[in-house]
Amino acid sequence: MSKAKANSKPKDNVSPTVRIYIMGEAKDVPASLTIMKAIEYAGYKLTRGAGCRAGFCGACATIYRKEGDYRIYTALACQTMVEDGMYLTQLPFVPAEKAKYNIKDLSPSAETILRYYPEVARCLSCNACSKVCPQDLSVMDYVQYALQGQIEKATEASFDCVSCGLCAIRCPAEIPQYHVAELVRRLYGKYIQKYPETLDKRVKEIEDGVFEEGFKEFMSMSHDEIVEKYKARDFIDQKKK
Ligand code: FES
Repeated sequence: MSKAKANSKPKDNVSPTVRIYIMGEAKDVPASLTIMKAIEYAGYKLTRGAGCRAGFCGACATIYRKEGDYRIYTALACQTMVEDGMYLTQLPFVPAEKAKYNIKDLSPSAETILRYYPEVARCLSCNACSKVCPQDLSVMDYVQYALQGQIEKATEASFDCVSCGLCAIRCPAEIPQYHVAELVRRLYGKYIQKYPETLDKRVKEIEDGVFEEGFKEFMSMSHDEIVEKYKARDFIDQKKK
């Protein structure tokens, strides 16, 4: 995170405001902003620690404290509103060890998990990982499922993980939980999930140019027209199918 050269002054006439502390510096910012927008409003340029800005990529892990509160809080900066008295630290990167493997050489088993992430056997069941997860996942549960070789259950329990890495930072056993989650989901996708037959059909349709007209239409539309079209789309409820 660096101070931006342009737009470095907070804008006027916006209220109500809250006082937050960014890397120790006091800033008054509109209460209606997310942490990410407040950091930028205060004149910082996020060169790391920002990505999709929509809660999906996990790049914006944040640690903060509140005035008079001893606890450490964690959040995704793009999804969390500022509060008065927040002391914020934006994490540009979580340096957890990621195993290297070729998924084609593995089997979906507890042995595979332990070979690449032996740390999982050190899990103390303290649940610190689940408590810090901004996605409210039961991180400890998916680690335990992985340890037992229950790949499908570990996949389901970790499905909404965005790999922000906050779990790994808090883990006293130094388990890189989110990397374990990536491995179980890859194992599931490669060895357990049924091959979707409709995939080949759709790829062939694309290759045959079935959607060319539609692509051309989208490319010629304005942003607002695309938004309107998206809102008016036929919504298929997969659960009812
Ligand atoms: S920037 Fe992608 S989750 Fe926040």
